[in-house]
Amino acid sequence: MTRSGEPVGRDYSLTGERAALAVSLGLADGEWYRPPIDPDRLRELMTRRNGPAIRDTALWILLLAVAGALAFVALGSWWVIPAFAVYGALYGGAADPRWHENGHGTAFKTRWPNDVVYMVASFMLLREPTLWRWSHVRHHSDTIIVGRDPEISFPRPFRFGSVLPNYLNLVSGPQMLTRMVKHAAGTIDEDTREFVPEEEFPRVIREARVFVLILAAVVVWCIAIGSIVPLLFIGLPSFYGVWMVWFFAITQHAGLNEDVLDHRFSTRTVYMNPVFRFLYLNMNYHLEHHLFPSVPYHALPKLHEEVKQYLPPPKTSVRAAYKEIVLALRMQRNDPDWEIPGREVPDSASFRLTATTISSSSLAMSTAVAAGLETLTDLGPVNSVLPGQVKRIDIDGRTYALFRTRRDIYALSDGLCTHGRGHLAEGHLDDCEIECPKHNGRFNVLTGAAVRRPAKVPLATYRIEVVDGRLFVALPANSGSVSDAAS
Ligand code: FES
Repeated sequence: MTRSGEPVGRDYSLTGERAALAVSLGLADGEWYRPPIDPDRLRELMTRRNGPAIRDTALWILLLAVAGALAFVALGSWWVIPAFAVYGALYGGAADPRWHENGHGTAFKTRWPNDVVYMVASFMLLREPTLWRWSHVRHHSDTIIVGRDPEISFPRPFRFGSVLPNYLNLVSGPQMLTRMVKHAAGTIDEDTREFVPEEEFPRVIREARVFVLILAAVVVWCIAIGSIVPLLFIGLPSFYGVWMVWFFAITQHAGLNEDVLDHRFSTRTVYMNPVFRFLYLNMNYHLEHHLFPSVPYHALPKLHEEVKQYLPPPKTSVRAAYKEIVLALRMQRNDPDWEIPGREVPDSASFRLTATTISSSSLAMSTAVAAGLETLTDLGPVNSVLPGQVKRIDIDGRTYALFRTRRDIYALSDGLCTHGRGHLAEGHLDDCEIECPKHNGRFNVLTGAAVRRPAKVPLATYRIEVVDGRLFVALPANSGSVSDAAS
């Protein structure tokens, strides 16, 4: 307690005591619970499609254009208020889930539209694209871990004064703008240094300069014509429209447990009506999204059906979610350690992640036929992995991923992502690229090259040979004993 009787706030900074504590307790980059799911079904759900994203993005842009046109026509009348309210919500609010989904690279099957929408939405939200990409990577690695997660929006104890002004971006907005200006001037702040790799700093600076230039041009335009109207369309909606971000985002984690390596305790799924689900791009299935971030937004309702028996019951409406959140925030205002009672989380002890795994019994033991430094290890018949699939294999205690592309090219790589040790066999294979299930980084499975951030370090790959309908891999001579991957 403070002298005034207020409970002491937790230290949410990324460089403070709680950050060190989280590391020492093994909460940083920890192993998280994932419910069992049939690997083939998961693969199906992870399939990318352009259709839904084209439809939903086009509709969003159309609504934005119509609301903008109405606002323009209504200038000078009272109708301008509702028109700008709608425009602002679509600009500063509905941009958030678009930013999020395209940032994951899961909205479109084709990569470039993801990048374009991500950039545009980042500007609309005043979020520096590279900085926020890394921030979100950390949010997924260390969800609601105090001192590690830079995206904890409802710190304990809850203070109305520090959160409510953010419904108009009055606290975060100026902070983001200040940081952006600093970055544009070439100064990288401490928090950014904490989670953005140094080699990304030039890109952070470049992007900040472009965003600052655009905003400055709009201000100059306003001054030149003696009117605030241009800013009402570009810039200010990032403030007056942000309430919609919070309207939805509060349902994600607010009031739930901190410092638990199980998203079921820290993340909430809420059933919402179709209009909300369009605006929010199905992020109401937030728990499922955290469990399987490689599943695109349009497949989340189906994913929910697959795994819901392992998850706490979802909130049945926004109203029900708000009821729980308001109670939790009120209680945590006086007692930061208060937790929501009666949250039913099915026991996870009997479940374990079931990646597509080859057991020792399904494989012949290694065949040391090669001379010199390499042995050929028998990985089984060619049809042990189907076209477009990836399979985990453990050999001598080391994990590999065996790929078969849709064009029947076989490849083997190390099985753990070079970024944060995500199991690549649980990822989405898109032609010759494997997408890591943890943060959506990508590798070319033939060359091992890291082709999408946050993955940067190449993956080790191994030569596959097909002999008499069986797959063999050349491995260093001391490898080759295939062990049970599930043990
Ligand atoms: S673990 Fe981060 S991209 Fe793979």
